[in-house]
Amino acid sequence: MNSHFITFEGPEGSGKTSVIEGVKHRLTQEGYDVLITREPGGVPIAEAIRNIILDVKNTALDPITEALLFAASRRQHVLEVIEPALAQGKVVLCDRYVDSSLAYQGVGRGLGVDTVFELNRFAIRDLLPSRTLFIDVPPKTGLDRIQQREGHLDRLDLESLTFHEKVYEGYRQLAQTYPDRIRIIDGLKPLEEVISDATRILLETLTKE
Ligand code: TYD
Repeated sequence: MNSHFITFEGPEGSGKTSVIEGVKHRLTQEGYDVLITREPGGVPIAEAIRNIILDVKNTALDPITEALLFAASRRQHVLEVIEPALAQGKVVLCDRYVDSSLAYQGVGRGLGVDTVFELNRFAIRDLLPSRTLFIDVPPKTGLDRIQQREGHLDRLDLESLTFHEKVYEGYRQLAQTYPDRIRIIDGLKPLEEVISDATRILLETLTKE
């Protein structure tokens, strides 16, 4: 566990990306050296793997293959981006990490949280975040938000509302299983308040070292 490794999770359209940008700004003002990253993190191998997963043409992709590919992409991102940044003393804010696989593949696809965790442990070894912020937005609200946005919807965005409801339930279960690590943040509040709530929790996490 590394106290500088922080992950952000949430359903589609939870506003994670804007929250992370805001948090980075605040933490930087507090003097932290902050890196924002998200899988595949600009790592060409991880990117090639993710293109397979998210391509809307790949309707035949099996759920176990999907879980293995996410874990493979994650490993490369850990090795090439996350671990080097932590070694340099940076605070790493990562947009989605292993909990996404637990919620989407473990619960959404029904592979089971324990099974998906086990295969991810092979990929990430002991690198778990010290704090995970779950930006809580009901799945229907999140999906409405992304449909109103310009731009491309990927293979997972296009899954049914039922699938996304399972993912959401998966996240809620994870927050109960790991209450020390995962904090729930109300993502329906105005963005500036969500950023303040997230920053407050992270400053506590970072100063507890
Ligand atoms: P991402 O590119 O992070 O999109 P966003 O955070 O903007 O929704 O993730 C793409 C999709 O892949 C998203 O629907 C969540 C899903 N996903 C998984 O199913 N498992 C995973 O392990 C990860 C990281 C993402």
